[in-house]
Amino acid sequence: MELLLAITIFYLSSFHLSSSAFTPTNPHFLACGSTSIIPLITDNPARNFTPDSDFFTPKSNSISLSNPNSSLLYATARAFTERSTYRFKLDSQGTHVLRLHFFSFTDQNHDLATARFDVSALDRLLLFGFSVPNTQTPVIKEYLLWVDTAELALTFIPHSNSSASSLAFVNAIEVFPAPTNLISNSTDPESVPSSRRINQLAHQALEIVHRINVGGQKVTPANDTLWRTWVPDDEYLFTDKDFSLDNSTSPKNIKYAAGVDPVIAPANVYDTARTMNISSSMVLSNPNFDFNITWSFPVTSNYSYLIRMHFCDFVSKIYTDLYFDVYIGDQFAHQDLHPADKVDQPAEPFFLDSTLYVPTSQHLINVSIGRSSKSSPTTANAILNGLEIMKVNPGSLDGSINPDSGISQTKKIHVAILISTIVGGVFVIASAIAVLVLVCKRCCSKSVTKPAETPFLRAPYRTDGANSVELSSQFTERTAPSASPHFKMSLHISFIEIKVGTNDFDDKLVIGTGGFGKVYRGVLSDGTRVAVKRGTRRSGQGYPEFQREILLLSQIRHRHLVSLIGYCEEQSEMILVYEYMEKGPLRDCLHGSDLPCLSWKQRLQICIDAARGLNYLHTGYSHNIIHRDIKSTNILLGDKYLAKVSDFGLSRWGPSYGETHVSTGVKGTFGYLDPEYFKILKLTDKSDVYSFGMVLLEVLCARPVIDQTLSSEQINLAEWALQWKQRGQLEKIIDPRLVGKINVNSLSKFGETAEKCLAECAVDRPTMADVLWNLEYALQLQETELKREPYEDSGNVESQFPVTAVGWAPSTRISIDEGRSMAGMREVCSDTTASKVFSQIIVDEGR
Ligand SMILES: *[C@@H]1O[C@H](CO)[C@@H](O)[C@H](O)[C@H]1NC(C)=O
Ligand SMILES: *[C@@H]1O[C@H](CO)[C@@H](O)[C@H](O)[C@H]1NC(C)=O
Ligand SMILES: *[C@@H]1O[C@H](CO)[C@@H](O)[C@H](O)[C@H]1NC(C)=O
Ligand SMILES: *[C@@H]1O[C@H](CO)[C@@H](O)[C@H](O)[C@H]1NC(C)=O
Ligand SMILES: *[C@@H]1O[C@H](CO)[C@@H](O)[C@H](O)[C@H]1NC(C)=O
Ligand SMILES: *[C@@H]1O[C@H](CO)[C@@H](O)[C@H](O)[C@H]1NC(C)=O
Ligand SMILES: *[C@@H]1O[C@H](CO)[C@@H](O)[C@H](O)[C@H]1NC(C)=O
Ligand SMILES: *[C@@H]1O[C@H](CO)[C@@H](O)[C@H](O)[C@H]1NC(C)=O
Ligand SMILES: *[C@@H]1O[C@H](CO)[C@@H](O)[C@H](O)[C@H]1NC(C)=O
Repeated sequence: MELLLAITIFYLSSFHLSSSAFTPTNPHFLACGSTSIIPLITDNPARNFTPDSDFFTPKSNSISLSNPNSSLLYATARAFTERSTYRFKLDSQGTHVLRLHFFSFTDQNHDLATARFDVSALDRLLLFGFSVPNTQTPVIKEYLLWVDTAELALTFIPHSNSSASSLAFVNAIEVFPAPTNLISNSTDPESVPSSRRINQLAHQALEIVHRINVGGQKVTPANDTLWRTWVPDDEYLFTDKDFSLDNSTSPKNIKYAAGVDPVIAPANVYDTARTMNISSSMVLSNPNFDFNITWSFPVTSNYSYLIRMHFCDFVSKIYTDLYFDVYIGDQFAHQDLHPADKVDQPAEPFFLDSTLYVPTSQHLINVSIGRSSKSSPTTANAILNGLEIMKVNPGSLDGSINPDSGISQTKKIHVAILISTIVGGVFVIASAIAVLVLVCKRCCSKSVTKPAETPFLRAPYRTDGANSVELSSQFTERTAPSASPHFKMSLHISFIEIKVGTNDFDDKLVIGTGGFGKVYRGVLSDGTRVAVKRGTRRSGQGYPEFQREILLLSQIRHRHLVSLIGYCEEQSEMILVYEYMEKGPLRDCLHGSDLPCLSWKQRLQICIDAARGLNYLHTGYSHNIIHRDIKSTNILLGDKYLAKVSDFGLSRWGPSYGETHVSTGVKGTFGYLDPEYFKILKLTDKSDVYSFGMVLLEVLCARPVIDQTLSSEQINLAEWALQWKQRGQLEKIIDPRLVGKINVNSLSKFGETAEKCLAECAVDRPTMADVLWNLEYALQLQETELKREPYEDSGNVESQFPVTAVGWAPSTRISIDEGRSMAGMREVCSDTTASKVFSQIIVDEGR
């Protein structure tokens, strides 16, 4: 027992030391409506909230309410029927923290959720027409107010109308002087050209609207010396989560130094960060590899905001190596930010302030971090640990009545960026920690040791490093700019160039339409023919896929994968520019159009090309990549019917070593979707094999994989074709235009391959390398038909994969357009009768 006590005391005292508790002079903590002291022992430091009855006037209009269903501060409330004022005596002038707690509840006579009121302090309106819905969560409003009087007056004004008067109420009030270093009074905003500086920021009233512990968990008043609450960033993160990592260290590793102490932000905020999910091998193999991490915060327009960003680099191997860019909206807030210029050691925190005016048309503040052009491939990263967004009310102290006109409307402020530089004290420079050893693992050796699969041809720009390629001469000019140190710019194509090249997105040039938007034929300024995929205005849906496609295609190059020539992300446009594939999608050459019929040999060659591309995705790059949306519209045909796999928007990295699968929500296209993936949500590269098997059948039979116009046993191509295959009569259902033109052995090999791809269990399906081998064999059988006897070779080849029964293939009785994509499906019943399962599909807009 004693030991336990001793440990506890030791623990508590050491915690106090490390957080160097701030003790405000003469603080006021009121439990409004309460008749006794409310101790908050979990707060650190602990606090007592005292009854409020001595602080407000007039007494006659007040009601004390209690709520037996809540505890501590929210068990009571003070309500007012008329204008009433709390008065707090202050010891010092300067910035004060004012925190108001509101929690709605109902007693016999009053419903606080109907209360509507204003709150003002120092003649400044803080809340106007405020009400608190009965949501069982307290609403806490926090302000930093400059006070130069001996008293702070806080007035509650109930709204009233002709028929009735409302209540005003409050559950708890905190007023205490802020530490003097919290808002500096010595560094006034730097003005940038064409924007107005905010003078004397410390003398303004600020309202805290967002306070975020980036990459970490909620930090409560128990872990914050100013009893602040910091919430996780997840719900504000705009960029797909895969693009960032949440890193953390122990709070005792945080080295506070001159300039920053725990009152700025506690160690629990600095000890977590969000960083870029970027590895040096990715950057080495493609210097263009780049993206931003972006957060979006809802705000009220027509105000200026102070944006305080907290940084602490405990992530970099060598802290002096880190350079990154910080953006607010579309502007640089800090270009080439080099933390080593601000601090003297790793894991030393610092913060930077910026101000921004949010015009009426906007309701969001976007904050982004990304690679700096000064970063090297091996150290490319960006970091953010914490973020505070505070609304600035620069209105004069003598009465801004409407909070929405709080900002003087005669002054147009655009963007004012102030940089408050916090320079740490002089410290011993920490010794270098580790030497970064760069091993460009498989990606280097792969392209060297696998000549058969070396990607080549038609790489339209320079790809330095591992995947070096021959340049086709027509692209050489476009290549030149990428030699500049701004690697990330080399894939960028200006909006103007694209606009001109597509004749201002002329509808006559549309060659395709999907959920993502329209695809146009176009020409770049250097004469390159391109396909331009223009995204609909950024939605939360399309943007991750846009980034993913850039990310993937800028890293991988292959003769049988459609090349990305560039992209444009200007003026909220999301545009991808690809090499132009003149003969269009495979599907159009098979059915539903009157394009010339493809010969069997051509079809085999197309399947082989696509299988090569897919095999490269699965095995050729250091990560294995699962396409997830293989279908005949995503296999494009170029000159001489050279086939390439396209549309990587749904692709994702496959399982890493040791893992057998990736769990993920179901995405893909109806009719091509792997039933096993669909049932148990295990994604492996065998899901692509299944979809590819469907493409093989489609190529053979020249009909859609799902055709509602046919009789019920024919609707689903997989079910129908495999029945005929099992009866040994596949030739009865092939494309009529091919009848008599396919060698029986070739057909048999091809049918067998398709059947195996469509095996119910993923483990029974062949790999793409096997599929490729068998298709090549089928081609050989076709070409050498005259020299061979029927079935001569089938026996040997049979052993290529185990024979398995073909099982579950869903039949469809519901009307879903074939070719649409599924974004999600509800839980699947264990009895997977087809109609049951598919009646629960939710189809999204498609892609
Ligand atoms: C407390 O909860 C009970 C049951 O949920 C409810 O009937 C009562 O109105 C609540 N009291 C208050 C003051 O909210
Ligand atoms: C007047 O205020 C009362 C209480 O807030 C409300 O119930 C009533 O609907 C209001 N009447 C009008 C006309 O706004
Ligand atoms: C800033 O604040 C400190 C402490 O409150 C005070 O001593 C100093 O005079 C102030 N400086 C300015 C420029 O207002
Ligand atoms: C808060 O501090 C306690 C120790 O007082 C620690 O155990 C806990 O993990 C901290 N919470 C967070 C969110 O960091
Ligand atoms: C980081 O990216 C890789 C692909 O490069 C992905 O496999 C991994 O899941 C990502 N990590 C996180 C934490 O999202
Ligand atoms: C950052 O987090 C990722 C995954 O969350 C981890 O793999 C990596 O080692 C971490 N880096 C550091 C420096 O902690
Ligand atoms: C923030 O980013 C989103 C998505 O990119 C965009 O729609 C919005 O216009 C941006 N807002 C501002 C103020 O930059
Ligand atoms: C990052 O965001 C900024 C500001 O919106 C933008 O200018 C820049 O192009 C973005 N970088 C990338 C790689 O998306
Ligand atoms: C914002 O300010 C503009 C003038 O700058 C004014 O026209 C507009 O009404 C204001 N918007 C709101 C919501 O008050």
